[in-house]
Amino acid sequence: MSDKAKDAIVKVKRYVPERDEQPHWETYFVSWEPLDRVLDALHQIKWKQDGSLTFRRSCAHGICGSDAMLINGVNRLACKVLIKDLKQPIKVEPLRGLTVEKDLIVDMEPFFAQYRKVLPFLVNDEPAPERERLQSPEERARFDDTTKCILCAACTTSCPVYWSDDEYQGPAAIVNAHRFIFDSRDRAAHERLEILGDAEGAFKCRTTFNCTDACPRGIHVTRAIQEVKQAILFDKL
Ligand code: SF4
Ligand code: F3S
Ligand code: FES
Repeated sequence: MSDKAKDAIVKVKRYVPERDEQPHWETYFVSWEPLDRVLDALHQIKWKQDGSLTFRRSCAHGICGSDAMLINGVNRLACKVLIKDLKQPIKVEPLRGLTVEKDLIVDMEPFFAQYRKVLPFLVNDEPAPERERLQSPEERARFDDTTKCILCAACTTSCPVYWSDDEYQGPAAIVNAHRFIFDSRDRAAHERLEILGDAEGAFKCRTTFNCTDACPRGIHVTRAIQEVKQAILFDKL
């Protein structure tokens, strides 16, 4: 039996398009231990109180990037936020800027479409060496930060420019372009910089830093965007 006085109060923004005209809040009471995370609370609701609650998650350990959501107004991974660190009631909502499909699930396709546009893979048509394409530790360090991206979309969906213009390529796409532009083994930097230099590209960024604050991997997102902007300008010289 739940002891409501000790339970965490969790308010979840619910929306089932076939049933609801508007999203609405539902309140749940969840028992919790000191190391429980928001994801544990959502599991408890789904498994013990309301099986219709819908959200994405896979790894439960901050690796897959599938459970980014707004938690108390901030983009976070539900599997990385401890209940004990949050003010109650804990308010959980879907990411902003993407269409809600159901409850906490948003349509990620526009996000991945922007990602695919920047050629997020190594391009090198030169004949392969006998063993590997060598790279010095310094060359590898040049893009180390941006290799950490898990494509959770917390950055892009926290960006006010993206909220008002969903054609903006967005910080996640730029971060993933950065990862290859500055890779000494890659040969498609110019092509990517052309793509990122268009009207919906890196220069749309207004340096608001929301993306950097939101990134659960601690990537210096705004710095990466600034480096890409500089590279675009040098590429045009
Ligand atoms: Fe998520 Fe950070 Fe990658 Fe953005 S840069 S998608 S916030 S991991
Ligand atoms: Fe948006 Fe980040 Fe730039 S929040 S405006 S992409 S610094
Ligand atoms: Fe994989 Fe949270 S469930 S990052």
